[in-house]
Amino acid sequence: MSYLTTMFLGLVLISNMNPQKNTPIKKEPFGKAGDQPVEMYTLTNANAVEVKIITYGARVASLTAPDRNGKLADVVLGCETVDCYINDPYFGAIVGRYANRIGKGRFWLNGKEYTLPKNDGENTLHGGIRNFSRVVWTATEVKSSGGVALSLSYLSKDGEEGFPGTLSATVLYTLTDKNELRIDYTATTDKTTVVNLSGHSYFNLAGEGSILNHVMTINAGRFTPVDSGLIPTGELRSVKGTPMDFTTPTRIGARIDDPYEQLVLGKGYDHNWVLDGGGGKLAVAARVSEPTTGRVLEVYTAEPGIQFYTGNFLDGSIKGKGGQVYQKRFGFCLETQHFPDSPNKPSFPSTVLQPGKTYKTTTVYKFSAT
Ligand code: GLA
Repeated sequence: MSYLTTMFLGLVLISNMNPQKNTPIKKEPFGKAGDQPVEMYTLTNANAVEVKIITYGARVASLTAPDRNGKLADVVLGCETVDCYINDPYFGAIVGRYANRIGKGRFWLNGKEYTLPKNDGENTLHGGIRNFSRVVWTATEVKSSGGVALSLSYLSKDGEEGFPGTLSATVLYTLTDKNELRIDYTATTDKTTVVNLSGHSYFNLAGEGSILNHVMTINAGRFTPVDSGLIPTGELRSVKGTPMDFTTPTRIGARIDDPYEQLVLGKGYDHNWVLDGGGGKLAVAARVSEPTTGRVLEVYTAEPGIQFYTGNFLDGSIKGKGGQVYQKRFGFCLETQHFPDSPNKPSFPSTVLQPGKTYKTTTVYKFSAT
């Protein structure tokens, strides 16, 4: 073989190993948030699976997954306009700087009290009023050997929504050829602060309708019971013998309306499970399957907790993608996280971030079909 032929074959081989080369990231305008333009980026993998990310809230606006016959459907809830996202219940958003609740909108750090805006009764939810889901992030396309990747960053000023320290947050979305959406979160601060970032996609593996027939497994022997404001009491309770036990595959709807106090308080599932975990390594936290389509979602994290929320507050008031009306329990969230209200619960794993240290966490949503 001549030198040139060898070179040519080599090039053909390399280009076949990298099929995304043929599907560059598509960028298009997606309206405006105030006077700030919002963009939508489409990431496509070798199996024609697509993820659409918008810069408003660094949100997953659309995500397709194949069923058992290879048919793709959009498996996340979302909106068609920025205006719809501005008042929505966090569809596909990155929530922060503190995902979930901080009780009574205050906490102490290094002997100082910090007060936060209350946006959920007496409490602060998902980082306050102008939280990370309601701001425009800066997107950068990145080269990654792992798949097709988009990085989004946001600089949250010292004192923003009451939190100390300027926080520089980055979220890297990577769509792999194994039909995984990987989210790598990083953050640094210039003053001691608290941080807890998560993703708030509402999934529906059938692509529409109720999620009550989805079958859920959560690898957690305990959960954190809550009070009437959905703030953890501090107890870590065994799931044994309760409707919170998802250690074996169970239909989401099987016990959701049981008169169990915690389900009454949450109006369904809206709790943090204490993951059995992989000792600081990425491990499967939850597995969900949808019997009619065969679609399966596995969630991997090294976080100590996961919030399983069954869309109990959806009420049909939002007209979503393709005119879909999202009724109660038409989507579920699996939010990897440190436990809610950790800044006020010294017994919970710490969410404190010091200057000079980097907050890092990874979530993988892996799709398959059976
Ligand atoms: C989180 C909370 C829920 C609800 C949703 C948004 O998952 O735990 O109680 O507030 O966000 O509607």
